Amino acid sequence: MAKPIQCIVAVAQNGVIGVEGRLPWHIPEDLAWFMSQTQDGVMIEGPACYAELGKALPGRGTVVISRDAGKQFPGAAKAADLTEALALAQAMPWPGPVWITGGERIYAEGLPLCERLLITRLDRDFAGDRFFPADWQRYFTKLVSSKKGMHDGLGYAFEIWER
Ligand SMILES: NC(=O)c1ccc[n+]([C@@H]2O[C@H](COP(=O)([O-])OP(=O)(O)OC[C@H]3O[C@@H](n4cnc5c(N)ncnc54)[C@H](OP(=O)(O)O)[C@@H]3O)[C@@H](O)[C@H]2O)c1
Repeated sequence: MAKPIQCIVAVAQNGVIGVEGRLPWHIPEDLAWFMSQTQDGVMIEGPACYAELGKALPGRGTVVISRDAGKQFPGAAKAADLTEALALAQAMPWPGPVWITGGERIYAEGLPLCERLLITRLDRDFAGDRFFPADWQRYFTKLVSSKKGMHDGLGYAFEIWER
């Protein structure tokens, strides 16, 4: 059976997801949420995301999308585009979902294919240079669950949306 395709992201109020190759915030609870949700699945990510994580994360598969023949991604499969990445992810033995985990262009291309979105929504704006698609609520209309949290005065909500 095909694995479901899902997206996971953390987004500032102004749509920012990254700055200079890293996350603009540090929220340990969100990292733990990300790690637990993607465990046993397959992550599809870009080379900058791979570089930020520093490796292929254990306990899950990883497919990196890159057209650069010179780049290597130890522990991960490499695909030339999202279509190839999805085929590689579906063929991997990990039982969990296929996760679209960024960055900017992979979210934009992958979001229309996802049946579920796990979005951590931060309560304030951040300065940044990478953004989540502003029209994401075009694809996801049903809020399934929401759980609020706070870290160092920064409020956030873990939300799960479906089509
Ligand atoms: N807030 C969050 O939840 C979250 C999640 C993920 C990432 N981020 C942030 O986002 C930033 C990293 O993302 P990014 O957008 O800069 O980079 P990225 O997606 O990791 O990498 C961009 C590169 O991916 C390759 N690529 C992407 N889409 C492709 C496609 N459809 N076909 C072929 N190649 C494709 C290209 O690499 P080649 O040039 O090698 O071909 C492109 O230069 C960081 O700041 C990170 O912290 C935030």
